[in-house]
Amino acid sequence: MRILIAAGVALALIQCCFAQTMTATHLRCEYLINPIGIGETKPRLSWWNESKERGAVQTAYEILASSSREKLSQNVGDLWDTGKVSSDKSIQIEYAGSPLKSRDLVFWKVRVWDKSGNPSPYSEVAKWEIGLLDPSDWQANWIGKPNATIDKADPSPYIRKGFDVSSPIDHARIYVSAQGLYELYLNGHRVSDDHFNPGFTDYKFRIQYETYDVTRLIKQGRNAVGAILGDGWYVGHVGGWGRQQYGKQPMGLVQLEVTFKDGSQMSVGSSSAWKVADGPILSSDFMKGEDYDARKELGNWSAADFDDSSWQSAMQGSAPAAAIVAQCSEPVRKWQELHAKSITQPKTGMYVVDLGQNMVGWARMKVKGKASDKVQLRFAEMLNPDGTIYTANLRSATSTDTYILKGDGEEVFEPHFTFHGFRYVEVTGYPGLLQDDSITGIVLGSATPDTGKFECSNQMVNQLWHNIYWGQRGNYLSVPTDCPQRDERLGWMGDAEVFVRTAAYNCEIGGFMTKWLNDVQDGQTPSGAFADVSPRVHDFGDNPAAPGWGDAGVIVPYAIYQAYDDKRILERHFESMRIWVDYIHDNNPNLLWEKSRANDYGDWLNIHEETPHEVLGTAFFAHSTDLVAKSADVLGLTDEAAKYHELFKGICDAFNKAYVGPDGRIKGDTQTAYLVALGFHMLPDDMRPLAIQHLVEDVTVKRNNHLATGFLGVSLLNPVLTETGNLDLAYKLLLQDTFPSWGYPIKNGATTIWERWDGWTQDKGFQDPGMNSFNHYSLGSVGEWLYGVVGGIKPGTPGYKEIVIHPQPGGNLTYANTSYQSIYGDIKSNWKIDGHSFELSVKIPANTKALVYVPAASAEAVMEHGHPASSADGLKFLRMEDGAAVFEAGSGSYDLTSTK
Ligand code: BGC
Repeated sequence: MRILIAAGVALALIQCCFAQTMTATHLRCEYLINPIGIGETKPRLSWWNESKERGAVQTAYEILASSSREKLSQNVGDLWDTGKVSSDKSIQIEYAGSPLKSRDLVFWKVRVWDKSGNPSPYSEVAKWEIGLLDPSDWQANWIGKPNATIDKADPSPYIRKGFDVSSPIDHARIYVSAQGLYELYLNGHRVSDDHFNPGFTDYKFRIQYETYDVTRLIKQGRNAVGAILGDGWYVGHVGGWGRQQYGKQPMGLVQLEVTFKDGSQMSVGSSSAWKVADGPILSSDFMKGEDYDARKELGNWSAADFDDSSWQSAMQGSAPAAAIVAQCSEPVRKWQELHAKSITQPKTGMYVVDLGQNMVGWARMKVKGKASDKVQLRFAEMLNPDGTIYTANLRSATSTDTYILKGDGEEVFEPHFTFHGFRYVEVTGYPGLLQDDSITGIVLGSATPDTGKFECSNQMVNQLWHNIYWGQRGNYLSVPTDCPQRDERLGWMGDAEVFVRTAAYNCEIGGFMTKWLNDVQDGQTPSGAFADVSPRVHDFGDNPAAPGWGDAGVIVPYAIYQAYDDKRILERHFESMRIWVDYIHDNNPNLLWEKSRANDYGDWLNIHEETPHEVLGTAFFAHSTDLVAKSADVLGLTDEAAKYHELFKGICDAFNKAYVGPDGRIKGDTQTAYLVALGFHMLPDDMRPLAIQHLVEDVTVKRNNHLATGFLGVSLLNPVLTETGNLDLAYKLLLQDTFPSWGYPIKNGATTIWERWDGWTQDKGFQDPGMNSFNHYSLGSVGEWLYGVVGGIKPGTPGYKEIVIHPQPGGNLTYANTSYQSIYGDIKSNWKIDGHSFELSVKIPANTKALVYVPAASAEAVMEHGHPASSADGLKFLRMEDGAAVFEAGSGSYDLTSTK
């Protein structure tokens, strides 16, 4: 009985203390979950609020940050105790506690108050750890192989060092980097499942390092640490520019730090006291592939008891001039495996494995045979008519892996420092019969978490979304690349710029772009010119960027600000955004971008509709200026804001005078000319209807409901048609499947977005192999419209604090299910047309609100569970707008139905 009473009291206590149901979950620091080794001393903290109640808002929060888990469990925030802060802020809150220094480990938790003033329990404990902030924190040296062959690919060096640990261990960290790539090992174990670290940066300016918690891998007694070094972007081929763009041979930097239970420390840093040897990786290069000779394997070379007496002493090199900076984004990881869909034998001794999906990564091979048997793997996106692989479009990227067997039962091969873009694997020299599980596709990409999903009643549109998503997951590989297969794979700025808003729906790219925008800024010349590709590759010289390409340096930070309310990204890049605009202005004082357009790609890969480059250039000049002005507004830079708003107006005036006729025709008379002028809001009000009419005529009359846009125009096409009252036409283009259209490649089997509308056509077959990738995301920038218009999820304010749920059905679609995991939590918009009724199921995260548009004749036509929606808890009818009843909705889930 006493127990029962006690339990009852405890329950009552819990209920009274936590009368509210709102909790703080999903704690993140600088976009990452429990990051370790970060370079920010004032990192920003974010969490989700979760509540079962409608209209849940956070009215206050309290963050506690402690130097130990124990202190935090006693609610002691010795580093930072914000006290109760009356605020609805739950994202991007800058740490403002005691100053943090290298290696500091911070535990934190948060509690939140709901709208009735009830506090939540504290959240789960999260943590972050500071990396090595100061160059003097590094005692380790850069090491590599003495007498490396540097005029051609050299075997990947293995480096190692044995060491003794005499006391009980409290914790241990490894800080590691490479000029090139590394795989890190400790006592016979691979330390992480990351690939291609330290990632691709502009190595002239910065090289990243990573931090790993290796406490569990170290033991008292004898230990060994080691790494395999690879060429990567630093030493191997980059683009079509050949090897050694940044350095001659791979070098590694490893610093292990062990802290003992008694507080004392030891460290093991790479130096000439380390040993180095060649191993089985004869060569490994992103463009060329990997040659691996299993007969040369070194055994358990990173184990403590390994005998390295026959290994050479490592060569100690000097430290590079570049800054060594903490990685601030997710590394490249494996994210999926694909199995053979079919295996054919187009020639004797040759197998072709179809993985059913154009992917990025490599093939894992299982094989049994004799020592010295040699298997060759080649990779391709497409097949020739005779069933052999089509490799002409890879240009100089030979993308070939070879494996020489050791002849020791079943052997499993995966390469180390290469990747390929492919759907088909050609296998030759395979001993025995290739089985279904002999080849597995290992899919790699930057581990940006998935955030978006789209699915509707039309299978072709679903395949389009799928192709867009796969294009991103493969091409967001350390940097946003153009393509993954031929000798290119570069951070092309134009591609990144048109696709970034789509990308921010598909995946959480805050950290990824935080990192890349540093590369972009590193590539900017003192005169303000960005590069066409970032990281700027040495052989690309000091060429300034082209219109629509360089503008990524403005458009991408602004898009990240919009997606995540990330003001810091604007703060950090404002100067670089501004001087890009000034650079264009300085070279074109008449405000028309006629000069200094450098490589001037125009509306790249349009279909017979070349927009005059000065028209396109001036429009991008205007747009970048507009975004610089808006960024200045956000940052409270009043003078700059006024200056650039004024400049924007000036550019628009010059544009209108020079290129727009009294009939509203824009010079060039192309879809893209109208799209940029309308989309960037450059035309006076009286000219807009005329320009819209010309745009619509071009699409309908001239092109019979087909697009003709290239990379730049296409990202504006459906958004502008929708914004200008031509939703039906946007749907016609979406569902078009004759050439040129998004549907045409899909009808012809595409599983990723093609670089060109005519990559392969029924009449002409393959386009010019000189430039014909089948995995290029740029033309997939329509993803933004799928999420924002078909699905109807858009940010109302930056970071989706206010959301717009405005599905705009059309094109005979009968349903669309769309979700987006915002920085505040899950948003959902599922709609369905059932006879005369329209059903809309919505989810709005706690601490946000939404405008919800329900297609309806009147507010009264909208019901929730049989009751008028306008009187439902959490909903407030605001107005009728364009055939929709508009409600303000607090957080929560709603199931709305409107009947015609
Ligand atoms: C790349 C593009 C890039 C372009 C510049 C191509 O070779 O693959 O995607 O934007 O060059 O026009």
